[in-house]
Amino acid sequence: MFYGNLLAALLVIQFYVCSHSYKNTIDIEDIVNFVNNNPQSTWKADTYGMKTTRVRDFVRQKLGINRNNMKNHLYQKKELTERQFSQNDESIPSNFSWLRTNRTICKMDRIGDQSNCASQTMFAIVGSFSDRLCLETNGSMATPLSVEYVLSCNTISEGCKGMWEGYIYKFLKTNGTVTGGYYDSDEGCQPYSIFPCGGFWDRIPCPSNYSYTPKCKERSCTNDWYDYRTENSTYKIKDWYYIYPYYNDYKGQKEIYNEGPVITNFQLFEDFLFYKSGNTRTCIYERSYPSKFLGYHDVKVVGYGIENGIKYWQAANSWGTSWGENGFFKIKRNECGFDNSFVAVTPTAT
Ligand SMILES: *[C@@H]1O[C@H](CO)[C@@H](O)[C@H](O)[C@H]1NC(C)=O
Ligand SMILES: *[C@@H]1O[C@H](CO)[C@@H](O)[C@H](O)[C@H]1NC(C)=O
Ligand SMILES: *[C@@H]1O[C@H](CO)[C@@H](O)[C@H](O)[C@H]1NC(C)=O
Ligand SMILES: *[C@@H]1O[C@H](CO)[C@@H](O)[C@H](O)[C@H]1NC(C)=O
Ligand SMILES: *[C@@H]1O[C@H](CO)[C@@H](O)[C@H](O)[C@H]1NC(C)=O
Ligand SMILES: *[C@@H]1O[C@H](CO)[C@@H](O)[C@H](O)[C@H]1NC(C)=O
Repeated sequence: MFYGNLLAALLVIQFYVCSHSYKNTIDIEDIVNFVNNNPQSTWKADTYGMKTTRVRDFVRQKLGINRNNMKNHLYQKKELTERQFSQNDESIPSNFSWLRTNRTICKMDRIGDQSNCASQTMFAIVGSFSDRLCLETNGSMATPLSVEYVLSCNTISEGCKGMWEGYIYKFLKTNGTVTGGYYDSDEGCQPYSIFPCGGFWDRIPCPSNYSYTPKCKERSCTNDWYDYRTENSTYKIKDWYYIYPYYNDYKGQKEIYNEGPVITNFQLFEDFLFYKSGNTRTCIYERSYPSKFLGYHDVKVVGYGIENGIKYWQAANSWGTSWGENGFFKIKRNECGFDNSFVAVTPTAT
């Protein structure tokens, strides 16, 4: 009995020590089992064949300086003005997604892949800009805009180490970006050039050196058949503004429904890496209890709705299509600071 208690005590101490040394190890199986065996879970997890070491690289390479976004947000608040809405009286649907709507011919189902580069902020912002430009031109400007150009040519930034959001908005307003799809796409002038590696099971590991930023190609196209001169200009934004759905989610819904996808920033907890699909009831991410904070992440929000009584936002991630629901996910409203502030851009149709 005595020895039993002692053993139990030692196990408790050991558990305590282990669970607090997570910086070195993430027990992927534990997280996945915890989520999938919890009857309260609103989503299903998958290990994605990831190993602990790969998770560490994944986080380091994909979040970059954005892991600590305090400055980022201070910078933002100074620069932006809030979008003013009239009364909450306009009727909008309670479920809406730009992925399914028949209101436009613009396709918004593209999913980018950062690879070993902390370019998530550019994927979110340029992605939303592309969608809104397409909407504004009623589908006549449907070629995606280039993340690569912003990543490599915005010289006040640190490229693949991450980029403050404010610098990206400024760059898009003063310099703009050319066209260009995702990796290996034959779309546009400068598609994304970083080969997808690392992270998930179907990938080769990334090179061991830190991610490198592609070189700026200012007046040329990397797609051979695409002539810079036929394009000859960059696409710019008129401005950007924020929306606070935190106290009133109608604001966020209305912005998305009327104007198009928005950008947001949220806290990434380790279980989020393993988000895969829905269970029998819902497919809405909610942080599972033992999950630890990793840093901040940016995504493009494309829809919202209610599933089984739970209100959610739907967003496009930039981790390729094998992650989540073909690269997309749903997250419970107000989860992980997701609703703190949305940012929206206004495109200039030239
Ligand atoms: C679009 O879908 C809505 C709802 O499903 C339907 O009522 C409407 O007729 C559709 N419009 C067009 C142009 O297909
Ligand atoms: C947008 O394009 C569609 C066809 O693609 C056309 O039917 C519609 O009238 C256009 N709307 C505007 C406002 O130009
Ligand atoms: C961006 O604009 C600034 C100011 O006009 C200019 O000095 C700079 O060369 C531009 N950069 C690119 C990559 O176009
Ligand atoms: C990292 O490795 C890649 C691929 O081997 C190479 O092209 C690149 O120059 C290396 N970067 C640095 C900073 O060493
Ligand atoms: C295209 O850009 C070049 C170089 O900036 C400029 O000389 C030329 O006039 C432009 N052409 C058109 C049609 O705008
Ligand atoms: C939309 O939301 C309602 C709850 O308000 C839900 O009952 C319904 O199934 C949803 N419809 C669709 C098409 O998702």
